[in-house]
Amino acid sequence: IHREFWLDIGDKTISPDGYLKPEGKVVNGSYPGPLIEACWGDDITVHVTNHVQTNGTTIHWHGLRQLHTNEADGVNGVTQCPIATGSTYTYKFKALQYGHSWYHSHYSLQYPDGVAGPMVIHGPTSANWDEALDPILISDWNHDSAFAAFQGELDGHPPTADSVVLNGIGNYTCNPQTEPRCLPESKRKPIFSKIFQKGKRYLLRLVNSSTASDFVFSIDNHILEVISTDYVPIHPFKTESIHIAIGQRYSVIVEANPSAPAQKDGNYWIRTILSEGCGAINQTRNETGVIRYDSKSTALPTSEIGSKVDTTCADEPADHLVPVVPWVVDRQAVNNVPEFGTFEVGISEQNVNQTHGYVRWDITDTPLWLNFSNPTILDLHNTSFNKQYAVISEDYNHGFVYLIITSQNITHDKKTLVPVAHPIHLHGHDFVILGQGNTTYSVTNTPRTFDYNNPPRRDVAMLPSGGWLAIAFKPDNPGVWLVHCHIAWHASSGLAMQIMERQSEIEKTIPSLGPTERTCKGWDTWFAEHV
Ligand code: C2O
Repeated sequence: IHREFWLDIGDKTISPDGYLKPEGKVVNGSYPGPLIEACWGDDITVHVTNHVQTNGTTIHWHGLRQLHTNEADGVNGVTQCPIATGSTYTYKFKALQYGHSWYHSHYSLQYPDGVAGPMVIHGPTSANWDEALDPILISDWNHDSAFAAFQGELDGHPPTADSVVLNGIGNYTCNPQTEPRCLPESKRKPIFSKIFQKGKRYLLRLVNSSTASDFVFSIDNHILEVISTDYVPIHPFKTESIHIAIGQRYSVIVEANPSAPAQKDGNYWIRTILSEGCGAINQTRNETGVIRYDSKSTALPTSEIGSKVDTTCADEPADHLVPVVPWVVDRQAVNNVPEFGTFEVGISEQNVNQTHGYVRWDITDTPLWLNFSNPTILDLHNTSFNKQYAVISEDYNHGFVYLIITSQNITHDKKTLVPVAHPIHLHGHDFVILGQGNTTYSVTNTPRTFDYNNPPRRDVAMLPSGGWLAIAFKPDNPGVWLVHCHIAWHASSGLAMQIMERQSEIEKTIPSLGPTERTCKGWDTWFAEHV
């Protein structure tokens, strides 16, 4: 089936958490944007029109493989020119995975201001639930534009978010008498809530769409049965809480059967706890939503946090996250490490924490600065890009490509830097997590500890602070694909790399890239007139 959608990106003053944000951005007038819904195998067409007055835009369909549709991946400077104000770009791709995710602007720091929305692709299912709820986008939220907040990051002071919102609903404590942007109670949205009917089983589709925060999700007195990681179905496991890094998703089944002690009012907190050391938020309240058994109740819960809720900032243990469809990775890395490459994440030594200095992150020794007017896909043979590339050639004939990212260099500027974990996202592929650790990576020894037999598979995984992350993927998708830290501040200060995969096949496999998309004329003209 062919499904067609129209998204209009624009400016709007919004107040998701009760505090006006004049520099908000919206999709079809709202934050989050509308649900994009399709079935497995569908052909999807999305026409994206940009009405943001001061910037370009692009939309990325997070986690969708874009098999042979690199030009629909939505990364400006890599797979397309930015969509200039007043113009439209049409994305065409196939829904080759099923589950849920989110779409978001991939134009610089635009998504943190509101250009994000949910996506569901229905697939085969055991229907082991009675009712599926629409995705819940969990996000940290900034009252000022992300571009303004980013200035702090550049100066070596990572910004602190103001609150947490669930599907664009939050509650920031402020005083409307003294703060003009603070809305009085009467003008605020009611707290995010879902009505449960006792005995029913609900499917919750969780997404972390944050700028810089990882969360631990839990519901007081309820057990989560986790059935998928990102777009990958897994053997179900039960837990009291689940850690969700930026960009990650989980499907969880929750049985409406609260454990003792029952709450008289029949209300239970949904908690989104900032995981330890993975983000900073001014208001630390973690009771961000309510499960109600009485649809008429408006009372706030008095329930308490579960005793086994784990707030560590790390991916769930690998032995939980076992994909239903197994991938077995060849063990050649044990003796021949690593086929593809070891890359180091670092902060450059340039003036960090000095008054007019800036933070520059990089993978390899070159931060990725993109040329918006000359996206890689349109200039495949430009050798000046080479330092920012990793190249997988068409005759790479091993089953998997290994990508080892280490972050041992984190303090090399000799000043005190807060070590931080990085949620690493790869475009164009699901990857398996061969291993993660917070020790020093050893080329000879570490691969012996890898998990080769049906390891966790997903599209975002944590690079532990001061440690290493080893992933592997099948190089079966010609294109230029970004791999980057999904902390928006880090991606924007260069913590990204392009993977040039099967270069000679890219042009051949992208028949849909029409002549009008082959130049950046529209963008260049707009840019010359406005910036
Ligand atoms: Cu969620 Cu590069 O993307």
